[in-house]
Amino acid sequence: MSATARRIIRLCRRMLSHMFEFKPQTYASKHEHYQDLLQQARGVLHGEHNLIANAANFSALVYHSLPQLNWAGFYLFDGTELVVGPFQGKPACIRIALGRGVCGTAAQTRRTQLVRDVNAFDGHIACDAASQSEIVVPLVKPDGSLLGVWDVDSPVTDRFDEEDRVGMEALCAVFMAAVTL
Ligand code: SME
Repeated sequence: MSATARRIIRLCRRMLSHMFEFKPQTYASKHEHYQDLLQQARGVLHGEHNLIANAANFSALVYHSLPQLNWAGFYLFDGTELVVGPFQGKPACIRIALGRGVCGTAAQTRRTQLVRDVNAFDGHIACDAASQSEIVVPLVKPDGSLLGVWDVDSPVTDRFDEEDRVGMEALCAVFMAAVTL
């Protein structure tokens, strides 16, 4: 057997050991849901440091776990602006300047933006008219430079609260630990 074939088998075994069943689950609280999601995120990212692979799986995990979402994904900083990265949901705006929209504001201020009603956010960029609320977490590397932002949208006004902020920031910390060495 060739080295390449052995490598593919090893990769498949590793993937299978991390497969998840997305069974609909009920949780006693949002806190409990995030705790479970954090464990799943640690599992799905375990042993892998590739940015795109982890960003893709992280987006899929969150999008299929949390209720009432219509978009979940990454915008990555290319040194000049934010460029759309791995995500789940409908096709989205490709480039966002720093300081523009909810994503650009999170990137520029380095602070999570919790927008309960996007219609009330001056400069909100409507990639999908269905989006009514949004949360965006800045992703900052240990050296202080910007990796990008994590953006989650909902078709429901007031979908995100402080518990979501804490939960999303904790999830992003797990993500950053996996992709930055
Ligand atoms: N609404 C975002 C743009 C990205 S989409 O939500 C996917 C913003 O205002 O920055």
